Amino acid sequence: WATMEDDVQAILDLKRETNAVILAHNYQTPEIFHTVSDIVGDSLALAREAVTTDADVIVMAGVHFMAETAKLLNPDKTVLIPDMRAGCSLADSITAEDIALLRQKYPGVPVVTYVNTSAEVKAASDICCTSGNAHAVIRSLGVPRVLMLPDEYLAQNVQRDIPEVEILTWAGHCEVHEQFTPQDIRDMREAYPGVTILAHPECPPEVVAEADYAGSTANMSDFVANKKPARVALITECSMSDNVAAANPETEFVKPCNLCPHMKRINLKNIRSALENMEHEVIVPKHLMAPARRAVERMLEVRN
Ligand code: 13P
Ligand code: SF4
Repeated sequence: WATMEDDVQAILDLKRETNAVILAHNYQTPEIFHTVSDIVGDSLALAREAVTTDADVIVMAGVHFMAETAKLLNPDKTVLIPDMRAGCSLADSITAEDIALLRQKYPGVPVVTYVNTSAEVKAASDICCTSGNAHAVIRSLGVPRVLMLPDEYLAQNVQRDIPEVEILTWAGHCEVHEQFTPQDIRDMREAYPGVTILAHPECPPEVVAEADYAGSTANMSDFVANKKPARVALITECSMSDNVAAANPETEFVKPCNLCPHMKRINLKNIRSALENMEHEVIVPKHLMAPARRAVERMLEVRN
């Protein structure tokens, strides 16, 4: 049996031989995050960095929609995902047909879709957003009403900050973040006095209301690095705290967390095999390529 060190060494060698880079989301385990990854970050950073790489092959240590976004921005590169089943409950919650029906119901209202969607859904939308730029994207449109899909909680959390725009949404939820409750936060404050609580905006609004700060995975990570709280709890996926804790040894981490089963499908073994066998290649159907790419590029043009 290959040890973890064998797998890491093999991956480093394979990356050189195939001119590959590994992009890893903040929810990847430390053994991936801190060893073989070239670029780590939130969905927005991974999309931005995907544009700048001059590698021939991109391996996405993340979920399928992230690999698809990388492919949209790099049509001529080979984009691999180590396990095709690494999906996302938000991406599964809406189809292009749903969007067509919404457009009929709300003619002229721009459609902003979360990047946690399929290429088909992106192609049916006007512009994408992530949790890191949702406010800026919505403000950039300069309209009184938008459809923000499919994450109901993200939309409600943004609505609270931007009351001047009416935000219509959908009933999609992240299966990981929807499990947190306001009571979890109250219990944590009681058990860990003085704890600073940071929540991902995919959490229900009642949870975000009880937190000290809400932001994307990168925003939470930056908050800890810059403000250096003595004690912190990140209300999000489990590996996030492990990764941020490694970079901030002076902060005590309370680790309430829920696992994302999709993110956890990726491991060193299947990253190694992805590079050995050039599998599994992420292909975006030709007719979706231009319209889906346009929605992502419009998002990247918005500065926040
Ligand atoms: P971020 O864009 O904040 O990294 O979030 C992605 C995600 O899947 C959160 O569940
Ligand atoms: Fe999707 Fe939630 Fe997993 Fe993120 S944590 S990939 S939103 S299911």
